[in-house]
Amino acid sequence: MAKFEEVNKKTIPKHVAIIMDGNGRWAKQKGRLRIFGHKGGVKAVQSTIEGAAKVGVKYVTLYAFSTENWNRPKFEVNALMDLLVDTIKKEVKTLNKNKIRLQAIGDLDSLPKRAQEKLQSAIDETASNDHMTLVLALSYSAKWEMINAVKSIASKLKEGSISDHEINEELIDNSLSTAGIPNPELMIRTSGEHRISNFLLWQLAYAELYFTPKLWPDFRDEDFYDALISFQNRERRFGKTSEQLTEKNN
Ligand code: FPP
Repeated sequence: MAKFEEVNKKTIPKHVAIIMDGNGRWAKQKGRLRIFGHKGGVKAVQSTIEGAAKVGVKYVTLYAFSTENWNRPKFEVNALMDLLVDTIKKEVKTLNKNKIRLQAIGDLDSLPKRAQEKLQSAIDETASNDHMTLVLALSYSAKWEMINAVKSIASKLKEGSISDHEINEELIDNSLSTAGIPNPELMIRTSGEHRISNFLLWQLAYAELYFTPKLWPDFRDEDFYDALISFQNRERRFGKTSEQLTEKNN
């Protein structure tokens, strides 16, 4: 547990977003089907979520299924949906034990009925938990979310409930599917790919980005702590100079 001790508990990012990538390559390395990799990815999810809750992160968002993932072979999409449904169902007990609330963002209406139902009951059953929030991005893409936000603002303008000078950062924040959730301070992507892939484009504006070559099924709480330690060693300037930050601290 050495890594846990190394994390400074006073500067924990409130929200960490994760692109879980590399399941297919992990399975291929083992001469197995891609779904074997997704199943392996569930262990990484469990270890990461437990680790995040233990260290005091308040929100974790997992990119579990993107809008673009619908274009994968039907067999893989169906198997992934089954895996998501089974995992959500099985994990409700552990979520409650650890006081973790489940939320979901994305085009949830496009999910198979059984997935929608299991997801909704897990959300309802964990709604009063207050230690941490786990947000699953399902059938999610940032461009889809932004189109919806623009539509909702446009219809408010049209009906006259807002005027154009009221269109500001706060209104856009509140029109996104992440309304009420603080922006991620850290974004982790596994598998050595250096892309954001249509994930939380607005919300990640000032996030620190952390990339690791580890494939998602090999990722564990210790790797999550490595990402936190890297985050804590960075200087977050938000457009200011280093000197301005030092002056403020003195
Ligand atoms: C990306 O790897 C991973 C996904 C598209 C799915 C992630 C889903 C899980 C880990 C299943 C369980 C999740 C939860 C939240 C219960 P990839 O298939 O793109 O890998 P590749 O780039 O190596 O092909």
